[in-house]
Amino acid sequence: MNTKTVTPIDLSLELREQIEGALRGYVAFDEDCPAKLREAIEYSLLAPGKRLRPQLTLLAALACGAEIAQALPAAVAVEMIHAYSLVHDDLPAMDDDDLRRGRATCHKKYDEATAILVGDALIPRAFEIISREIKPAERAVRCCQELARAAGATALVGGQAADLDGEFRDLSVTQLESIHRRKTGALFCVALRMGAIVANANDEQLAALDQYGQHLGLAFQVVDDLLDVSGSEGEVGKRLGKDLEKGKTTYPAMLGIQASRERAEQLIDDACQALGSFGEAAAPLRELALFVRQRNR
Ligand code: IPE
Ligand code: IPE
Ligand code: MG
Ligand code: MG
Ligand code: MG
Repeated sequence: MNTKTVTPIDLSLELREQIEGALRGYVAFDEDCPAKLREAIEYSLLAPGKRLRPQLTLLAALACGAEIAQALPAAVAVEMIHAYSLVHDDLPAMDDDDLRRGRATCHKKYDEATAILVGDALIPRAFEIISREIKPAERAVRCCQELARAAGATALVGGQAADLDGEFRDLSVTQLESIHRRKTGALFCVALRMGAIVANANDEQLAALDQYGQHLGLAFQVVDDLLDVSGSEGEVGKRLGKDLEKGKTTYPAMLGIQASRERAEQLIDDACQALGSFGEAAAPLRELALFVRQRNR
C-alpha cells in the first residue's frame, strides 16, 4: 500500500509539471512548419498560463480511476484549444489586447496573420493528438466529438460571437449567463468530460462532473470579470479595465462587485456540492474550485 501522503499542493505541482512536459512534446512540429510560425505557436502555448483546463482533465480522470498518463493527450488538446481561443480573442478585430499571460499578445509580438495562423494550427493539432494517442479508439472518437462540439459554433465560438455582438448593448442576466456558459463554461465541461471518458466513467459520474463544470466555469468567468475591474495588472498579466472600454456586459457591471463576489462564491459551493458522490476521490477537484474562488490571476 502506498502510505505517502500527497497534499493537494504536491499533486497540483506534479500535474502542472507533467502538463508542461506534454505540451512541449506535442507541440514540437517538424521543419515543414516555418520557423516563425513554430516560434509563435510555442510562444503562445507555452506561455505561463494557469493550466486549469488540463488539470481538470487529469483530475477528472483520477477521480474516475484512470492514470494520469492515459489522460495527458486529452489534457494537452484542451489547452491547445484554449490557447488558440486566447490568441484570437486578443486580435484587434476581437478584444484588441496587447498583454496576455504577462507578455505581449501574439499579434503584437509577431503579426496578425501569424496570430490567426497560430490558431489555425493549434485546432487540428488538438484533434490529431487525441485521435492518435487515446486508446481504445472508441474513447478517442468520443473525445474528438465532444471537444469539437465544445469548441464550435454552439459553444466556445458561438459564445465569442455573442460576446462581440453584445458590446455596448443592454443584455439580461440570462443572456450574459448564456454567453459565459458558451465562451468559457463549455471548455471547462469538456475538459472534465474527456478525463472521465478516458477513464470509462459511467453516466452518473459524467453527470456529476457536468454539474461541477457548469458551476465552476460560470464562477471562473465571473471572477475573470471581477479581476478586470479590481485586479492587479502585474498579477493578472492582462490589461485591466478593458471590459468597460469595450462595452462588454459583465457581472460586476450588471450586479455590482459585492453581489458578483457572492454569486461566484455560491457557484463554487454548488460546484463542490455536485461532487458528493465521488467522496475523497474528488478532493483535488474541490481544491481547484477553491483556487478559482480566491485567484488573483
Ligand atoms: C482566460 O482564461 C480566458 C477566460 C476564459 C476568462 P485563463 O485565466 O484560464 O487563462 P490562462 O490560461 O491562465 O492564461
Ligand atoms: C474570453 O473571455 C473567453 C475566451 C477566450 C473563449 P475574455 O475576453 O473575458 O477573456 P480575457 O479576459 O481576454 O482573458
Ligand atoms: Mg473576449
Ligand atoms: Mg478578452
Ligand atoms: Mg476577461
